[in-house]
Amino acid sequence: MAISKKIASSMENSSWIRRMFETGNVLRAQHGADKVCDLSLGNPDVEPPAAFQKALEEVVAARVAKKHGYMPNAGYPDVRARVAAQAGSEQGVSLRAENIIMSCGASGAMNAVLKTILDPGAEVIASVPCFMEYASYVDNHGGTLVLAPSRPDFNLDVEAIESRITPRTAALIINSPNNPTGRIYPEETLRRLADMLLSAGKKRGSPIYLISDEPYRKLAYAGAKVPGIMRLYPHSIVVTSYSKDLSLPGERIGFAAVNPEADEAKRLADGIILCTRILGYVNAPGLMQRVIGSLQGVSVDVEIYRRKRDLFCAALAGIGYQFAVPEGAFYIFPKAPGGDDLAFVEALQEELVLVVPGRGFSMPGYFRIAYCVDTPVIERSLAGFQRVIRALKS
Ligand SMILES: Cc1ncc(COP(=O)(O)O)c(C=O)c1O
Repeated sequence: MAISKKIASSMENSSWIRRMFETGNVLRAQHGADKVCDLSLGNPDVEPPAAFQKALEEVVAARVAKKHGYMPNAGYPDVRARVAAQAGSEQGVSLRAENIIMSCGASGAMNAVLKTILDPGAEVIASVPCFMEYASYVDNHGGTLVLAPSRPDFNLDVEAIESRITPRTAALIINSPNNPTGRIYPEETLRRLADMLLSAGKKRGSPIYLISDEPYRKLAYAGAKVPGIMRLYPHSIVVTSYSKDLSLPGERIGFAAVNPEADEAKRLADGIILCTRILGYVNAPGLMQRVIGSLQGVSVDVEIYRRKRDLFCAALAGIGYQFAVPEGAFYIFPKAPGGDDLAFVEALQEELVLVVPGRGFSMPGYFRIAYCVDTPVIERSLAGFQRVIRALKS
C-alpha cells in the first residue's frame, strides 16, 4: 500500500474544480490553448496593482539583518499592527497586533483555526452552495462538515442553520462575497444570525464560533458594503488573504483575525499561533508579509471585474440563462438549463467552454462561471453558451 486509503479515496473523488482543470489541459493539448474558454478557475487574470511591484522591489532591495530568518510564528509584529488597523476599520472594531496571525493564505488560516477549535467528532456548519474545500479542511482536524440549505436568493437561511446545531457544533463558516454565488450577506441577516448563535451558545453553555471567510471582501461592486461580522458577534474569527484582491494567490499570504471580545480571545489566538507552527506552515512567507504590510487598503481595480460581470451577465440573460447578478467576487452561478448540471457542463465542454457543475459546491442543478479571464475569452465563450441552450430547447 503506497498511500493511505483515505487519501486514495480523496484522490478518486478529487474536487470538480481540479477535474475541470485537468479536462482543460487535455482539451488545450487537443485543440490549442486559444480555442478553449476556461471559465473554471478562480485564478485572477488582473495583474497586481503597480503599488505591489514598487513595494516588492523596495522590500527586496532593503538591507535588513536576518531578513530571511525565522520570525515569531504569528508574523512580524509591525506588519500585524498595520493589518490590525485596516481589518479593524473594515470590521468596525478596534483590533491590535495581538489579534492578528499572519498565514499562508485564507486556507492556511482556516486550517490553523479549525485545528485550534475542533475536538474529534466536532461538527462545523456551512451553507450550500459553498467552497467544498471546507469539507476537507474540517476533516483534516477530526471534524465533520454539516451542510445547511440557503434561501432561494442564496442569502443565509438562519432557521436552517439553527436546525443543524447540535451539542457537537463547534463553528459555522460563512463566506461573503460568496464563492460560487457572488452574494453579499446583508447586515440584517447577519444580525439575525448573530442573535441566533448567541442564544444557542447561551442555551448550551459554550459559544459557537463564527468563522468568516473573506478573501473577496474588497471585490464588491457598485459601492456595495460587506458588513463586518466582528461588530455583530463576539465569538468571531475572520480568515482572509490577498489572493484575490491583490491577485497574489501564488504567494500564499493572508491572515486570521480573532475578535478581542471572544471568550478567551488570547488563548484562542495563542492556539492559532501554535497550530500555524505545528501544521508545518511555521509562519507566513516573510518577504510577502513585508510587502503587504505597506499595501493595506490597496486592491486591484474592481471596476475591471465589474465591466466583465456586466458584459457576461447581459449576454447570458439575453441568451436565456437564469441567475442572480453577482454583487461581489468574480463568479456567476446560473441554473443549468435542462436541470442536469453534469449533462450541461459536458455539453458545454463539447463547445470547448469549461465551467464547474453545481454539485462541486453541493448544489446540483446549477453551474459556476469564473469570469476572472480576459474579455475576449468571455466573448468567444458566448457562442458555445448559445448553441448548448438552443440544442436543449429544440
Ligand atoms: C471561498 C474561498 N475561501 C478560501 C479560498 C482560498 O484562498 P487562499 O488562496 O487565500 O488560500 C478560496 C480560493 O479560491 C475561496 O474561494
